[in-house]
Amino acid sequence: MTFFQNKTVWITGASSGIGEALVYELAKQQANIIISARRQEELERVKKNANYNNINILTLDLVESDTFETKTKEAISFYGQVDVLIHNGGISQRSWVKETTLEVHRKLMEVDYFSYVALTKAILPHFQERKIGQFAVISSVMGKIGTPMRSAYAAAKHALHGFFDCLRAEVWKENIKVTIICPGYIRTNVSLNALTATGEKNNQLGEDIGAGFPADKCAQQVLKAIKNGKNEVYVGKSFGKEWLAMQMQRFFPNILANLVKKQVPK
Ligand SMILES: NC(=O)c1ccc[n+]([C@@H]2O[C@H](COP(=O)([O-])OP(=O)(O)OC[C@H]3O[C@@H](n4cnc5c(N)ncnc54)[C@H](OP(=O)(O)O)[C@@H]3O)[C@@H](O)[C@H]2O)c1
Repeated sequence: MTFFQNKTVWITGASSGIGEALVYELAKQQANIIISARRQEELERVKKNANYNNINILTLDLVESDTFETKTKEAISFYGQVDVLIHNGGISQRSWVKETTLEVHRKLMEVDYFSYVALTKAILPHFQERKIGQFAVISSVMGKIGTPMRSAYAAAKHALHGFFDCLRAEVWKENIKVTIICPGYIRTNVSLNALTATGEKNNQLGEDIGAGFPADKCAQQVLKAIKNGKNEVYVGKSFGKEWLAMQMQRFFPNILANLVKKQVPK
């Protein structure tokens, strides 16, 4: 029996990339799975590819937080409970501060931060009632450091750490866990879907993302961190430059600050 067998896991951003890879890994581990994102047809494709019966589709737009109470009730109704919520859906950004509109900053905060807060608040009473539950939060290395052309994204990801560290400190007594995951570069559509300065789709595969860590291996590391009840983990290439940047942020922040000034965004 695997850790996830018969556990109900709700994944947002399950129509692509890391979320999609998580679905396939969880199917192998015989979890009860709920998959969310905006695009129904992509969720159908993921379900078909997983070739696994215990998958329920629940479309959800992360900017429509007024629907979250209803969506959460629906999610619980599929299997009678939710054990783990993987907050994963999100968008990135490729633009300089001086050119980025305030709308883009607000959009990133809405999708990558406020939606996580709102969905957490919608399901928290369920976890508290059952005295068990786990939030897994896909942050980023950008949740710990800041580099050129990621101001809105890094701000939203940094905010997640503040919110979820506080939540963990409040709810641990009720047997509710919070695991924050910081992926490095993972090979997905994230750079294609990222927003430009004026909010258009970037439509370019970044060099670092193209050469990134495979999403299936990332998913395996994410599930291991959830299973082990970790507070915060890095996932991605071992000893890659993103890993190194996180170590430097911790131990030599001034050296890192000087290095990132010279970074050419790819
Ligand atoms: N790839 C990386 O290098 C990397 C590194 C660090 C962190 N991350 C994080 O990993 C998470 C997943 O990203 P990914 O790399 O897998 O990128 P991706 O392939 O672009 O997937 C993004 C997912 O988020 C969903 N999404 C976007 N906007 C949404 C909205 N308004 N409402 C509902 N769902 C929405 C998309 O589904 P729909 O379009 O169907 O709605 C899609 O399923 C993100 O939080 C990202 O910040 C990625």
